[in-house]
Amino acid sequence: MQALLSDVLAKATAELPALRTRPEWEAAKARYVGPNGELTAIMKRMGAVPKEDRPALGRMVNEAKGQLQALLDGALRAIEHAELAAQAGPPVDPTLPSPDPGPGTYHPLTLVREELCRILRKVGFAVADGPEVETEYYCFDALNTPADHPARDAQDTFYFPASARFGNVPKHAPGERYLLRTHTSSVQVRAMLKGPPPLRIVAPGRVYRRDTSDASHSANFHQIECLYVDRGVTVRDLKALLDYLFESLLGPGTKTRFRPHYFGYTEPSFEVDLSARHLPKVNKEWIEIGGCGIVDPAVFAAVGYDPAVWTGYAFGMGIERLAMILYGIDDIRLFYQNDLRFLQQFR
Ligand code: DAH
Repeated sequence: MQALLSDVLAKATAELPALRTRPEWEAAKARYVGPNGELTAIMKRMGAVPKEDRPALGRMVNEAKGQLQALLDGALRAIEHAELAAQAGPPVDPTLPSPDPGPGTYHPLTLVREELCRILRKVGFAVADGPEVETEYYCFDALNTPADHPARDAQDTFYFPASARFGNVPKHAPGERYLLRTHTSSVQVRAMLKGPPPLRIVAPGRVYRRDTSDASHSANFHQIECLYVDRGVTVRDLKALLDYLFESLLGPGTKTRFRPHYFGYTEPSFEVDLSARHLPKVNKEWIEIGGCGIVDPAVFAAVGYDPAVWTGYAFGMGIERLAMILYGIDDIRLFYQNDLRFLQQFR
C-alpha cells in the first residue's frame, strides 16, 4: 500500500505541474481523486488491511491526499496565471519612457498665420495683439460704426450680460457692454491708442460671429488684420502690399482685384478678390478674400491722431479661407475636429 501511494504521488508530482489547460486539469483531477481515481482505488482497499495497521495507513493516505490536493491547487493557480498573462498581453515596464510618437505637426491655421506674419515682418510690420473679449467701443464705435448704423447689425452678436467683468479688458467708458470680438479690426484701435504714428502692425487672432456652422461658416474663426499709418499713404500702397503678400504666400501669377464696398472705418473701402493657380482646387477663378481701404479720418480722430497729417490703409481677412485655398480644403469644419488623419498632412 505504501509503495502504491508513493508511486501515485511520484507520478502526480511529475505530471500535474506540466498541465497547461483547464480541461487537462479537470481530467487529471478525476484520474487521481475522482470516484474512479487512483487514490480512491487505494482507499477502497483499506477494508482488506488488518485492523492494527489501519490507523498508520490511514494517516499515510490522508497525507498523500493532502499532497495531491496541494499539487492540484498549484497546477490550477499556474493555469489561471497563464490565462491572465495571455489576456494582458506582453509584459510592460511602466517605468520606461513611453514609445516615441514621432514629431508633432503644426495646425494648418498656425502654419498659414505664421507664414503671413513672416511675409509681413519682412516689410516692417510688427505683430500686435488684442483681447478676444472686447467692448463695443473698440469693436464698433471707435471704428466709426455707431450703434444705430446698419453695418453693425450683421456683427451685433455675442454680448455678455451687463454684470460680466473682465479686469484685463479695459473699457473706454463705464457702462459699455462686453462682447466676443467680431473682427480683428478692434486691435487697430488698441494699437493706435498705445502710441503715436507712424505705425505698421499685423494682428492675427480668433473672432466670433453668429454664424450657423456649415462647409464655409463657423461661429468662431481666425482673421489677420493689417494697419499701416504714415504720411501720404495711398490706395496704390495698399494694392502693392496685398499683391506682395498674396504672391509670397500663393506663388507667382497670383492676382488681386478690388471691388468698391462699404466699411465704416475706411474710405474708400474695397473687397479684395484673389486669383491664384491654387483656385482650381476649390473650383473658382476669383475668390473674395477680405476687406480693405484707406483709414477713415474719423478713426484717426477717435484715437487722437491728427487726420490732417496722418493717412493709412487697413485690411482684414480670414485665415481659414486662405488656408483652404492654399491646401485645397473644401470644408472649414475640418480645421476644428482634431482628426489626426487630417492634421498630420500638414508639415
Ligand atoms: N473687419 C472686416 C470684416 O471682418 C474686414 C476689414 C475690412 C478689415 C476693411 C479692415 C478693413 O481693416 O479696412 O469683415
